[in-house]
Amino acid sequence: MLALHFLALALALWGAPGAGALDNGLSLTPTMGWLHWERFLCNVDCKEEPDSCVSEQLFMQMADLMVSDGWKDAGYQYLCIDDCWMAHTRDVKGNLQADPQRFPGGIRRLANYVHSKGLKLGIYADVGRKTCEGYPGSLGHYDADAKTFADWEVDLLKFDGCYCDSLKHLADGYKQMSLALNRTGRSIVYSCEWPLYMWPFHQPNYTEIRQYCNHWRNFGDISDSWQSVKNILDWSASYQDTIVDVAGPGGWNDPDMLVIGNFGLSWDQQVTQMALWAIMAAPLLMSNDLRHISPQAKALLQDKDVIAINQDPLGKQGYRLRKQGDIEVWERPLASLSWAVAIRNLKELGGPSSYTVSLASLGRAVACNPACVITQLLPVKEELGFFEWVSVLKTRINPTGTVLLQLKKPTVS
Ligand SMILES: *[C@@H]1O[C@H](CO)[C@@H](O)[C@H](O)[C@H]1NC(C)=O
Ligand SMILES: *[C@@H]1O[C@H](CO)[C@@H](O)[C@H](O)[C@H]1NC(C)=O
Repeated sequence: MLALHFLALALALWGAPGAGALDNGLSLTPTMGWLHWERFLCNVDCKEEPDSCVSEQLFMQMADLMVSDGWKDAGYQYLCIDDCWMAHTRDVKGNLQADPQRFPGGIRRLANYVHSKGLKLGIYADVGRKTCEGYPGSLGHYDADAKTFADWEVDLLKFDGCYCDSLKHLADGYKQMSLALNRTGRSIVYSCEWPLYMWPFHQPNYTEIRQYCNHWRNFGDISDSWQSVKNILDWSASYQDTIVDVAGPGGWNDPDMLVIGNFGLSWDQQVTQMALWAIMAAPLLMSNDLRHISPQAKALLQDKDVIAINQDPLGKQGYRLRKQGDIEVWERPLASLSWAVAIRNLKELGGPSSYTVSLASLGRAVACNPACVITQLLPVKEELGFFEWVSVLKTRINPTGTVLLQLKKPTVS
């Protein structure tokens, strides 16, 4: 009875966006979608590479596939454009415009197309004088550019931080664009890189960032490599005391795109990225080619149990619980007093490692108190059954791989 009361109270509290979040009603769970950057970069050569240049054709093809191949049904809703969509100059009225060769219909028509598929469109701009690739920046144009995006019926803005000459301009710019988006009256997810550009100078004020942004990048761009994924995980664990508690409904730490389905990660490393992005309550923005993706990568990215952990309504980010030799244990509290636990094998030589975990040590000692039912979700789904608090769980984990578990309270019969 007491437990039920607690649960009802907790659920009532969790229903609302977390304290101090940007009040636009968006990203109550981490944003899911597709973002062109890591896979397609600033490829503007549509003559030589018509199928992989940044063009309306690329986004229309991805929109079609997001619907026909189950991505939308799995939750991936935002189709996002990154840098290099613009013409090199503003139009005669001073407004941003799309490159006329690569986006002949303009962004407004692309947004209509994306909306007709039941998806949402994301776009990219920069707080400074220029975008990172040298296209027009929004400095001095925050209100006009916000209005342009709203007129085009865009649903998400990724706002980069290149070419900004001072910390004050950086902070003011990110805040002003947030307010400008709000004034348009259109609901637009606001994805920031504000802390990433602040860290070299001093620790960002995350309480403040959360008031203005729906998610924020903390660390450099991901690339299609295991080293890059490892660096992001190491950074996230090192700074977890600073970044974990600030995340919640309406505002999330963004460790950058999912590179699953590309070239650089082995199968076990792809499992690690999916499992840990779920533990970290990270936005799930894939950057891959949905026209050419293996069935295995697709199944991993569309795994509904793992996505449910990422999208858990409690909205609490997980953390690294311990590091013991070559093993790391991460955990995340979930709604209904459940927990997700990820056990990573850091070893990069030899075969699978055995690791035995005492269940009393997981989930702040309550996850399995007095008992729990454990399901292994990754690398393959397997019901492991009923466990008592005093028992241990034996796992075997491939080098660079991860075992993702879900611990639930046994249903009372
Ligand atoms: C703008 O902000 C106000 C309060 O801060 C909020 O109630 C409103 O929903 C916001 N509007 C949009 C479009 O985000
Ligand atoms: C961080 O920002 C919040 C909200 O703007 C403010 O109340 C707080 O004093 C700031 N903290 C520091 C250490 O500056």
